[in-house]
Amino acid sequence: MLQRVQKSVITLDINLYEELSYLSADERKLEQVLLDLAVNAIKFTNQGGKILIDVWHDLNGDITFQIADSGIGIAPEQVATALSMFGQVESTLAQKYEGTGLGLPLAKALVEQHDGTLKLQSTFGVGTTVTVRFPAARSDYPGTPIPFKKPVAV
Ligand SMILES: Nc1ncnc2c1ncn2[C@@H]1O[C@H](COP(=O)(O)OP(=O)(O)O)[C@@H](O)[C@H]1O
Ligand SMILES: [Mg+2]
Repeated sequence: MLQRVQKSVITLDINLYEELSYLSADERKLEQVLLDLAVNAIKFTNQGGKILIDVWHDLNGDITFQIADSGIGIAPEQVATALSMFGQVESTLAQKYEGTGLGLPLAKALVEQHDGTLKLQSTFGVGTTVTVRFPAARSDYPGTPIPFKKPVAV
């Protein structure tokens, strides 16, 4: 990912809450989700833009991943399309983007299989923030660390 960031001259900031607990999830699938969202952020952000990745615990123990970019954004009436299978939003910018339109719906489905939610907030021309939240039941926070639970079959 870093190579793509450097090539695009985008600033990338990653903030990890200091005492993140374990998250009971299928590692490969969670990685797929985060990679898809990060690649979107890079792909739809022009030179000089910014990407911010935050991971934190909410007070109730929910774990939240947030990927925010200062990219091209999505118009409100297009958000549903972006989240749908094969849905790609026509950009007014004279720029072609490669892709299948499957990244977001797949990411959403994988998150939901883990009892989580994926929300996309966007302002056209300003940027996009995707928030992925997993319930406290899937973390061992707060309290002392407990042995990592076997991933739940999804
Ligand atoms: N971070 C983002 N900023 C702006 N538009 C986005 C972003 N992420 C997704 N989109 C829009 O949603 C569409 C669907 O995204 P996705 O399902 O990942 O498919 P793909 O990346 O293959 O086009 C994209 O084609 C794009 O129009
Ligand atoms: Mg994508």
